Amino acid sequence: MEPLIVANWKMNPITLAEVKNLFNSVKNGIKNIKNAKVVICPPFVYLSNIQYLKSNIKLGAQDCFWEEKGAFTGEISPLTLKNLGCEYVIIGHSERRKLGETDEMINKKIKAALSAKLKPILCIGETGEERKQGKTFKVLKNQLKNDLKYLISNIYYLKSLIIAYEPVWAIGTGNSCEPREAKKVYLFLRKISHQLINSRASYNSEGICSGSANKLLYGGSVNSENAASYIQEANFQGLLVGGASLNAQEFIKIVKSIDPAPILQNNCFAAHGGRIGQSRLAGQYYSY
Ligand code: 13P
Repeated sequence: MEPLIVANWKMNPITLAEVKNLFNSVKNGIKNIKNAKVVICPPFVYLSNIQYLKSNIKLGAQDCFWEEKGAFTGEISPLTLKNLGCEYVIIGHSERRKLGETDEMINKKIKAALSAKLKPILCIGETGEERKQGKTFKVLKNQLKNDLKYLISNIYYLKSLIIAYEPVWAIGTGNSCEPREAKKVYLFLRKISHQLINSRASYNSEGICSGSANKLLYGGSVNSENAASYIQEANFQGLLVGGASLNAQEFIKIVKSIDPAPILQNNCFAAHGGRIGQSRLAGQYYSY
């Protein structure tokens, strides 16, 4: 299982020229990468421009609607995304939940995305307040249960689902989750997702999995200094990168820090020599 590095550009950049520039720089910078899969999720309007810039980068969207077509002003059909070359779609990002998106809506969106043969990247995460109150696991379990309601137990249907742990307090703050803490969450999510999705994959006490386990990603102030630690130490199968993905050189460094040789054993990562260090302020790379 190669690591999945997903760039969430959010509502950036503003001009098409900047989009092409950023995309082409990343494309050139990672052209020799062998052991990681890179996905870029630009704003919807740029998908068709990027679709034709040939590269080995996969395309994703930042959201989709739960209906296929019809009178839904401003919404985007999962089928349209599929036709524009998207393979992935982020669903339930905390920035959308904050705008009023509910677990019920997220549940319908996941179902629609799977029906359109898109791979949903479901985002879950606790707020700083919930973390302080010791509610992290409870919040994550509830989100997963509600977001996957009526979808669970159907392993075939859900095998392409990706779950991204994005602690809300770590997003855009430079205050990334310590790998040791992230690992505890990883092990919890591995267990819960295994129970909920009824996966036939097996995993050891480190959460190292074999078989067709769903990928678990970490997101929240990822940068080139801490990226490898979430894969090497905390055992996640990939990353969801916001601010740092808007700086081509920084994003390339992130991908390269992951690339030199995750050693594949039974379809999982055992070790590699990435750099581990302090997180850097996300605001250094761009401003919202
Ligand atoms: P930052 O990497 O800017 O913290 O954003 C993370 C995120 O929200 C990715 O979806």
